[in-house]
This record gives sequence, structure tokens and C-alpha cells, in this order.
Amino acid sequence: MMTVAERLRHETRALHEQTEALLYTEPLRAGAMHPEQYRHLLQAHWTFHQALEAAIDQNPVFFRSYDQNDRRKTPWLEADLAELNMDLPDSRPDLFQHWSPIDLLGAAYVGEGSMLGGKAVMHYLQKSPELQPLLINARFYRGYGVEALDKWKAFGAILAAQEEANHDRIIEAAQRAFLAYHDIFRHTQPQRQAVA
Ligand code: HEM
Repeated sequence: MMTVAERLRHETRALHEQTEALLYTEPLRAGAMHPEQYRHLLQAHWTFHQALEAAIDQNPVFFRSYDQNDRRKTPWLEADLAELNMDLPDSRPDLFQHWSPIDLLGAAYVGEGSMLGGKAVMHYLQKSPELQPLLINARFYRGYGVEALDKWKAFGAILAAQEEANHDRIIEAAQRAFLAYHDIFRHTQPQRQAVA
């Protein structure tokens, strides 16, 4: 029998591939990203993580061992957006409204998993000449750095502690969270830098 972590990987693989394709993978891998596309990525990530972190904050007991304060990505994204003189996008408090703690755990899988690919993405971003000056102090895509593996393992332990009766719900919620990412990305307009 597969563990819930194995099922998550298998049962969201296609959605991961679609997400990569949607999020500028072609120009990213070709080293041809434009600043406007990078800004769009930061905005979409902020919208997702801000809504998810706010929802998790509402469930401190269930998420105690998740150590959210050690996993927050919004401060990194806010620093990156400020560095580019960008306003924060509108928040989306509706995104995870009415999601149960178990559902939010599925969404947290998507948020934490996205940190695994971040290192690869940073490497690709740096191949785009137009982005290089914007990346000097970039924080979000550096992710958890040397702590990445430990953090992923600690998250895996939380997943492993979940009752089997909840596995289907966790997986279904992770799939919905991937689709929420797609929705955010499509509905966030790539923004030009605000004129100072
Ligand atoms: C172009 C962008 C992306 C690239 C190149 C990428 C790449 C990767 C890579 C290489 C891994 C495996 C890392 C490892 O096993 O050590 C991974 C895992 C993962 N990524 Fe991405 N990723 C991208 C974007 C995203 C985004 C935006 C999300 C969330 C919406 C996401 C969610 C995940 C998840 C959940 C996993 C964990 C899979 C597992 O269960 O092992 N990724 N990604």
C-alpha cells in the first residue's frame, strides 16, 4: 500500500507538470525570461502563500508541529516585491475559506513542495540576462536553503501521522490547491514596474 506522501506525488504529478508549463517554463529554461514575467510569478506566489498562511494561522492547534513561523514565505515575497518597487496584489481571502485543517494540509503539501523546485528555478532565472540585476537580493527562490531537506522530512512526518481515512481528502485538497495556483496565475496580470 502506498503512503499518503507517495500517493500525493503520484496523484498530483500531472498537475505539477501543468503548473510548470503554465509558469513560464519555456522562457525560464531557455534563459529568456522578462522582468515582467518574473514580477508576475512573485505576485502569484504571494497571493497563494498569503491566503494559505492566513488560513493555517486560524488552526494553530492542528498545525502546531508544522511550525508555520519557520515556514513563512510571504515575508520573502514581500521583500522581493518591495525590491522591485511593486505594490502587493489584492489578497484572496476567499481561496481557502471553509477548508478544513485536513484540506489545508493538502494545500500545505503544494506550498512546501514548491520549495523543492525553487532551487532549480533560481538557477534557471539566473540564466536570463534581463533578470540578473533583479536577482541580487532575491529571497523567495532561495527558499529554505540548507534546511530544505530537514523541513521536507518534518513535513513528511506530519503527513505520515494522518489517519488513512483522511488520505483521500488530503490528496483531493492538494489537487484543488494546484488548480487554485493555476487560477491565481491566470487572473494576476503581469505588472509593469511602478513608476517611482
Ligand atoms: C517551473 C517551476 C517548477 C519547477 C522547475 C519545479 C521542479 C520541481 C522539482 C525538481 C521537484 C522535485 C525536487 C526533489 O525531489 O528534490 C519538485 C517537487 C515539487 N514541486 Fe515543483 N517545480 C516548479 C514549480 C512548482 C510549483 C509552482 C508548485 C506548486 C504550485 C510545485 C509543487 C511541487 C510539489 C508539491 C513537489 C513535491 C513532489 C513530491 O511529492 O515529491 N512546483 N518540483
